[in-house]
Amino acid sequence: MNELIEFLRIPSISASPEHAPDVRRASEFVHDLLARAGFEHAAIIEDSGHPLVYADWLHAPGKPTLLAYGHYDVQPPDPLDEWISPPLEPVLRDGNIYARGAADDKGQLYILMEAARRVLRERGRLPLNLRFLIEGEEESGGEHIEEHVRAHPDELACDAALICDTAMFAPDLPTLTIGLRGIVYGEIHVEGARTDLHSGDYGGAAPNALEAAAQIVAALKDKDGHIRIPGLYDRVLKPSQAEIETWNRLPFNPDRYRETEIGSIDFAGEPEFPLFERLWARPTLEVHGIRGGFTGEGSKTVIPARSVTKISLRLVPDQRPAEVVAQLERAIAAAAPRGVKATFKLLSSAPASMVDPLNPFVQKAARAMQKVFGNETVYVRCGGSIPIVGLFAEKLHAPSVMMGFGLPDDNIHAPNEKMSIANIERGIDSLIAYFDLVAQP
Ligand code: BES
Ligand code: ZN
Repeated sequence: MNELIEFLRIPSISASPEHAPDVRRASEFVHDLLARAGFEHAAIIEDSGHPLVYADWLHAPGKPTLLAYGHYDVQPPDPLDEWISPPLEPVLRDGNIYARGAADDKGQLYILMEAARRVLRERGRLPLNLRFLIEGEEESGGEHIEEHVRAHPDELACDAALICDTAMFAPDLPTLTIGLRGIVYGEIHVEGARTDLHSGDYGGAAPNALEAAAQIVAALKDKDGHIRIPGLYDRVLKPSQAEIETWNRLPFNPDRYRETEIGSIDFAGEPEFPLFERLWARPTLEVHGIRGGFTGEGSKTVIPARSVTKISLRLVPDQRPAEVVAQLERAIAAAAPRGVKATFKLLSSAPASMVDPLNPFVQKAARAMQKVFGNETVYVRCGGSIPIVGLFAEKLHAPSVMMGFGLPDDNIHAPNEKMSIANIERGIDSLIAYFDLVAQP
């Protein structure tokens, strides 16, 4: 626990350039832990962007090779005043550890490293071959790892990837994630007048860049959550009836979910689609922030000359990121009012990915978790994204086994992020059981 606390204290916020030295420090923490545990070829790989950490133990000839993936970077912790205890001062409270990154993903990455280290310490060897590839820019959409996987597929050769960066569907319910949504994330830049202008002097003649942003955003999605981007839904695949039936058997109370997890008076989203389909198998569009104009105390009569809107779409099978970007660009141009120039600046993208639940590496993961948690493992999809999973499939021909030990109320990306201490222990036990099962024929 002390070691994990030390890890969580490092503010490895990949989105903030001023934290680059801290991100680097977190990569050293991961590197040193793996090297001390007995992993070989431990290296901090710095080509561009934040470093990758690699290490391996390949002394089980004839046994499968797993590629353990995780990320040591975290989301920015703000709004700081909503945290009960400060995000970078981890504390134990009610059986949980609270800190930014406790569940996403430092705590879960720690589970993965500790499981391997424990086996090496206790047995002097692993029952299988294990590589680690850990990145430091997952949360900011960095593409350094993508370049690395494309350039060095042979050095990452594996039978399956192993990822602890997702959540269980409910406490005590072992869960495997077999689908992730993809993402297109970017900014809409609007330029109007040459500078901010007096709204009395120029109102009626000068375009307003902030209003233009609002008009564009309003045109992209209707009140019922339908995205109004022509062609966007063309490639969307309906989930199979069999998969929908597995979702319908999950223990779930929509009102409780809405009241306790979401905390809103009603649901948003496409009313004609069931909730899990909306969350896991339908594309969505969200605005994350709009910058521009005057937001201080009191009044200032100004026509904003520029605005920046952060926006993302979640993608589902079989949508193609490049095609979605082109569709979005056309929709932005069509929605922009007269007198402004509106452009889309792409920051990151990744396609959706799916894993076959019948794959033997997935099946063994289900058995390992079942053994530790005492309940039958369920298969779900996740609305979030882990961008590299698609490339593991494409370049390494490796299915990703997504064994997550987070809980639905862990507040990832939000104030008061936490990780259950019991799940840290059960996670370690599940992984050790998994290593042994994978090693068996
Ligand atoms: N750990 C999450 C993915 C996740 C989200 C798993 C929700 C389970 C439930 C991951 O670190 C993440 O947040 N990814 C980003 C990627 C994006 C910035 C490219 C995401 O989904 O927003
Ligand atoms: Zn994560």
